[in-house]
Amino acid sequence: MEKIVILDFGGQTTQLIGRRLREGGYYAEILPHDTLFDGSISRDVRGLILSGSPYSVYEEGAPRPHASALEMGVPVLGICYGIQVLNYLQGGRVEASSFREYGRMEVQLQEYDLAHVQKLLNGLPKNWMSWMSHGDSIVQVAPGWRVVGRSLEHPAILAREDRPWYGFQFHPEVSHSEHGNRLLWNFAEICGMPREWNVETFQRLEQDRVLEKVGDRRVLILISGGVDSSVAAALLLKTLPPDRVYLMYIDTGFMRLGETEEVARQLKRLGARNITVVDARRRFLQAIQGVSDPEEKRRRIGDTFIRVQEEETRRLGLDGSELLVQGTLYTDLIESGRGVGKKAHTIKTHHNVSSPLVLEKREKGLIVEPLALLYKDEVRQMGRNLGLPDDLVDRHPFPGPGLAVRILGEVTEQKLDILRRADALFIGELRRRRLYAQIWQAFAVLLPVQSVGVTGDSRQYKYVLALRAVTSQDGMSADVYPFPIADLLEISTLLVNSIPEIGRVVYDVSSKPPATIEWE
Ligand code: XMP
Repeated sequence: MEKIVILDFGGQTTQLIGRRLREGGYYAEILPHDTLFDGSISRDVRGLILSGSPYSVYEEGAPRPHASALEMGVPVLGICYGIQVLNYLQGGRVEASSFREYGRMEVQLQEYDLAHVQKLLNGLPKNWMSWMSHGDSIVQVAPGWRVVGRSLEHPAILAREDRPWYGFQFHPEVSHSEHGNRLLWNFAEICGMPREWNVETFQRLEQDRVLEKVGDRRVLILISGGVDSSVAAALLLKTLPPDRVYLMYIDTGFMRLGETEEVARQLKRLGARNITVVDARRRFLQAIQGVSDPEEKRRRIGDTFIRVQEEETRRLGLDGSELLVQGTLYTDLIESGRGVGKKAHTIKTHHNVSSPLVLEKREKGLIVEPLALLYKDEVRQMGRNLGLPDDLVDRHPFPGPGLAVRILGEVTEQKLDILRRADALFIGELRRRRLYAQIWQAFAVLLPVQSVGVTGDSRQYKYVLALRAVTSQDGMSADVYPFPIADLLEISTLLVNSIPEIGRVVYDVSSKPPATIEWE
């Protein structure tokens, strides 16, 4: 598929550049900043974007593109650090400036007479607001380049006179930048990109890739109940003969009300033949009995998961030649620094990512990751196209250790039962009141304290339940969801009236940072 390649120099918003291009129908991929472009890797590349970076151009270890990238002969666009490094490599000068530009700044177009620049600025006004975040600035423009737009103090848009190479000192990919999509899409048009990207065409290509990779072997998928593994399973079931697709779901006992039954039902509906639902509830609960330290809980749950998974795959009689399907997303790849971008932030702590089974399969080339080039909302759309119901596809993220990290302190069967009912009621109300889709993640937390209350004439000590609802783009940071107060009060009343063990409800008003999304 023809594409624009985005070289990742470690900027915070690199992912968004790809997002915006795909929104316009232009296929884009992110690659490490020093990718060597030879042979097949450069075949379908129609344009190159150099991303932002936390580095200064002259700093020790500052990332540079490989020379072969700029020798491909395709149009080039540098964004923030991307244009600084390009300007520097072409003989210009960049310096730390006393006037730093952060936030929304006005960009003003200069007089220019270059036809290819007109294409880039097609449909743009004379001046507009753009989002900037730079301490260094271009103080001397490289020979053969022109400044075609300025901010208050600095060059903001640069263009090379003799070829379609450009640079923006601002970030067109950020939603605070006006006309950002227009600029990126104009660049894509200059690259001669077809406007063909959509989830349906991608799905067809991915099905061909899966068929080729799997051949006549079998595949194993571990289902978590979440969106990604469900969509991966649906795609595999549509692509391969169902008797070669093995689905395994481990019920840890920390799942939500009715979740196990619902997952099994959905998979059957999609034509699954080999479904193994492992009831490991007792085993997981025993593993964390008496443990109240959150990290210790996580570790024990993770270890138990791996052990159960190993035993059960052996029991299924698979001989080791089967491929393992993972619902890894593009953002997971970026975060873990695997394959795309090199400046990893954090490696996800999800227990499936680095279990011995996954590591062994990866070593042998027996991993299939059919969603690895997709963003979350694209995965959701594919799920809908594949016939998964909306309430599965739009589910909020749910942590691997499940309700066990939403019961602070020691986990018991009784507490799990209380929280499961509270969670089901809370989430059910959010859906009924059409609030669910406005929220990134909502859940209830059972606190290890009992607080006084009065029912009838008697004094009673009952559990405190905390409600949490946050908005977020990716879970890395989060804001408190401004819960409509009338709904909050009604839901709180419903909770204490329906669940006799709960006597008090509080709403968590902390953002991340400094708090995290989960309480443990
Ligand atoms: P925090 O609490 O770190 O959560 O702000 C960020 C996102 O990650 C999820 N989360 C987890 N997911 N295993 C997981 O698979 C875990 O141990 C875990 N802890 C947090 C959390 O729900 C949120 O979406």
